[in-house]
Amino acid sequence: MSNSLISVRVQAMRFEAKGILSVELVALDDATLPPFEAGSHIDLHLANGIVRSYSLLNSPTERHRYVVGVLNDRNSRGGSRYVHEQLRVGSSLTISVPRNNFPLAESAKHSVLIAGGIGITPISCMLNHLRSQDKSAELLYCARSRTEAAFSATLLQQAGVSGHFDDEQGAPPDLRAYLASKPKDAHFYCCGPTPMLNAFEAICAELGLPNVHIERFAAAENVTAVQSDEYVAELARSKKIILVPAGKSLLDALLDAGLDVEHSCREGVCGSCETKVLEGEPEHRDGVLSKSERASNKMMMVCVSGCKGKRLVLDL
Ligand code: FES
Repeated sequence: MSNSLISVRVQAMRFEAKGILSVELVALDDATLPPFEAGSHIDLHLANGIVRSYSLLNSPTERHRYVVGVLNDRNSRGGSRYVHEQLRVGSSLTISVPRNNFPLAESAKHSVLIAGGIGITPISCMLNHLRSQDKSAELLYCARSRTEAAFSATLLQQAGVSGHFDDEQGAPPDLRAYLASKPKDAHFYCCGPTPMLNAFEAICAELGLPNVHIERFAAAENVTAVQSDEYVAELARSKKIILVPAGKSLLDALLDAGLDVEHSCREGVCGSCETKVLEGEPEHRDGVLSKSERASNKMMMVCVSGCKGKRLVLDL
């Protein structure tokens, strides 16, 4: 588990849209909370034993609270349903410190933000932050309908914000046409459901857009954390050599060997188990690292990723 947890209580919950609640968390002792950047998320350790990551949507200038938005996902595996049905104002829980896998390139001349559904949580925080810095930014907010689009009334009043609601338009957005109409040197960000992220990535690659950023909160489909070949992990700092047998994840092999490896989601989406790779070629299966980070082979998510060869040397 994360070795830096914070005890918080639910200070307030608010209905934001059909199926979406915002949850305001404050420290149990009302202390100042660790700082965060736009795009960051926290892991909620829920009383049913489930750990889930949620993006922060309030302003990074606030230090007295964290606010997350939670969709009561019809495919919930227990996290969002627990928040909607069991978590109450006054409940206490533990959370991780904020982590940012979706940082803004603050020096960009122009930023194009695309949100699908609950993906608006990090994206609205990023938009507000860019606007507060007088940076040029625009937002395309997509959802099945306005009633399912949190914060849409406020956001759509702003210049540079457009909405696409499938029930009004009768079809999903034409992302290709939208992206092709933007300056190539802009920075492009997308957070939303997996099919949208996959389409966004494919279209950006096709258009040759170089500055592309995505945030995934669902593990890619059919990801397995194990492989059929054994390999060796050498731990440079602890001076240990461990065998990762076929059928066991690298994270479990490390934990079994007594290593204190920070981890949370175990699905390759939260980023907490990121580990530096000193030698060897990881088999990347996570949803956190960008293409270039993967290609560098300098880091890996040990909860789901494995080894392409027979040996990895890790900075552990
Ligand atoms: S534990 Fe979340 S990415 Fe590995």
